[in-house]
Amino acid sequence: MTKVLVIQSSALNENSNTRFLTGKLVERLGRDKDLEISTRDLAANPLPHLNETTLGAFFTPVDQRSAEQQEAVATSDQLVAELQDHDILIIAAPMYNFGVPSTLKAYLDHIARAGITFKYTENGPVGLVEGKKVYVVAATGGVHAGTPRDFVAPYLKAFMGFIGITDVEVIQAEGLSMVDQKEAAIEQALEAIESI
Ligand SMILES: Cc1cc2nc3c(=O)[nH]c(=O)nc-3n(C[C@H](O)[C@H](O)[C@H](O)COP(=O)(O)O)c2cc1C
Repeated sequence: MTKVLVIQSSALNENSNTRFLTGKLVERLGRDKDLEISTRDLAANPLPHLNETTLGAFFTPVDQRSAEQQEAVATSDQLVAELQDHDILIIAAPMYNFGVPSTLKAYLDHIARAGITFKYTENGPVGLVEGKKVYVVAATGGVHAGTPRDFVAPYLKAFMGFIGITDVEVIQAEGLSMVDQKEAAIEQALEAIESI
């Protein structure tokens, strides 16, 4: 059984392109493998932003944390455990104001943990999350790939590489706010999903 974690971040539901395309991707992967799917919907259940207590807890040894710090770090610990427990991650990544939705950024802030998901060495940072595959389903209203505004998929690839996940495949649907381009962009993304 292959365990798949689907991370949704679009604020929209029925009209969300990333929710539609991630659904198709799950269907496609399910044709080759027996999947056990879990979903984390960051729009429906947003995570708290990092604050001083959480950061303090991150950098305090486990056995020295105050009760408040233990409570503050629990969400992050749970998210890291959830990540480690899955084989494949599917990240739905709409572009919101040139970046990922803040709900998705908050998730990434919780799973970037020094000493747990990455560490610093003499030779620079080393990712500690091994053996995972990530699919990024990126959707944008405009067309940005290959331009200096291409902040979603390259950012997520860099982030995942930082924590050790280098097997990242991107399905990108661009120009979705352009009436004359949307249909072709969705069709192209569906073809990319089919050809996985
Ligand atoms: C709040 C908001 C901000 C957006 N900002 C951008 C943007 O900066 N650049 C862009 O190309 N598209 C932008 N879009 C368009 C979305 O990326 C596009 O509609 C995409 O399909 C969103 O994914 P979703 O359909 O799964 O919600 C924005 C859409 C919303 C709702």
